[in-house]
Amino acid sequence: MPNWVIVGTQWGDEGKGKVVDLLTEKADIIARPQGGANAGHTVVIGDNLFILHLIPTGILHPHKICIIGNGMVIDLEQLFFEIADLKKRGIDVKNRLFISENAHLVMPYHKTIERLEEESKGRNKVGTTGKGIGPAYRDKIGRCGIRLRDILYPEVFKKKVESNLKNNSHLFRKLKRGEFSSLKTESGVILKYKKQVLSLMADVSLILNEAIRNGKSVLFEGAQGAMLDIDHGTYPYCTSSNVSAGGACTGTGVGPTLIDEVIGVVKTYTTRVGNGPFPTEFDDGLCEAIREKGKEFGATTGRPRRCGWLDLVLLKYSVRVNGITKIALTKLDVLDDLGKIKVCITYKYKSKTIENFTNDLKFLENCTPVYKEIDGWKTSTHGMTKYENLPQRAKDYINFISQQLGVKVMLISTGCKRNETILI
Ligand code: IMP
Repeated sequence: MPNWVIVGTQWGDEGKGKVVDLLTEKADIIARPQGGANAGHTVVIGDNLFILHLIPTGILHPHKICIIGNGMVIDLEQLFFEIADLKKRGIDVKNRLFISENAHLVMPYHKTIERLEEESKGRNKVGTTGKGIGPAYRDKIGRCGIRLRDILYPEVFKKKVESNLKNNSHLFRKLKRGEFSSLKTESGVILKYKKQVLSLMADVSLILNEAIRNGKSVLFEGAQGAMLDIDHGTYPYCTSSNVSAGGACTGTGVGPTLIDEVIGVVKTYTTRVGNGPFPTEFDDGLCEAIREKGKEFGATTGRPRRCGWLDLVLLKYSVRVNGITKIALTKLDVLDDLGKIKVCITYKYKSKTIENFTNDLKFLENCTPVYKEIDGWKTSTHGMTKYENLPQRAKDYINFISQQLGVKVMLISTGCKRNETILI
């Protein structure tokens, strides 16, 4: 297999975990370029459910090498919790998991700051996952972040922590409940993992580039979805990293000329957790039905996801900003019971027809989706493995999406298990 980037095309939770798990069979190395413990990649193997937040899902395949890229922000407590949990379940990461020395750390104070800031925003809060992602990336961009390699030099590490605590003291002062952070607490939480971390740290750009030169293939496992991208997403209701395909390169130190395909994972309807505009959102009745059937609850926070119709205006934009070459379509079976299915084909704004998505908040809050209504197939597709067995109306739905986006569908997921998949 060549080098593939897997990206979510909507607001995350498209089912990337399963798609990555399936394609991992063909890859040698699986690398996560961005995000942190805000992600929750769900994989079902037999009767076992795995939810991975930081470690690439490739770890579930024996002998595959997994990489945590420089573009990620790492919460060490979560990382070692995940490693211990995998070990309990018979999966050892030894000599298979490598973390970039340049990845930034999520410090306990990042989570405190995030909570404070969210509280102070009231109704305008982003609705983050509460994992300290925004403040950690903010320090990275502000050039005061703490990288994994800083642990090698405890004096430097402590100085940086001290300075960051001082610079944030105005925020901590807002806390009324005596939760002031101290250098001792902050550094204690991190430095206790020093020995374990050292055994995982590596120059991941070197590993990846040498592997590619030797004919190995790399699967870049994106997290979240393009609409949560810090540049191309629904800013400021987005995450703080480059979720879109370009992030795979900057987040690992592999050049764009080495990427062969970008696979966009598209859910057959749309969901989003957290706040922000969502033009095709359902009204309450349908939302609950789809949420129950699609088990649309956040894998990281357990929050109920907002649900809506498929939005082709948004998806065309996603295909464009990611350079998507193939589509993996997920959760087809969730639509099985619907008599009518709507697909948004354009937006109406100030009585004009709008074909191109724009991430202008005022526009997104005030535009009206224009739908094409199609007949549902009203037959179970759950667990189907052959394209020819799909009901004709389901095929029509799939073909319509593919034609509109100008991209071929390579895989259709018809259930959460590995084998509940149609490979085209
Ligand atoms: P943060 O990434 O925790 O800062 O959250 C920012 C926004 O992105 C919030 O709306 C979150 O709900 C959303 N978000 C972050 N990670 C994911 C994910 O993995 N799936 C879906 N939404 C996410």
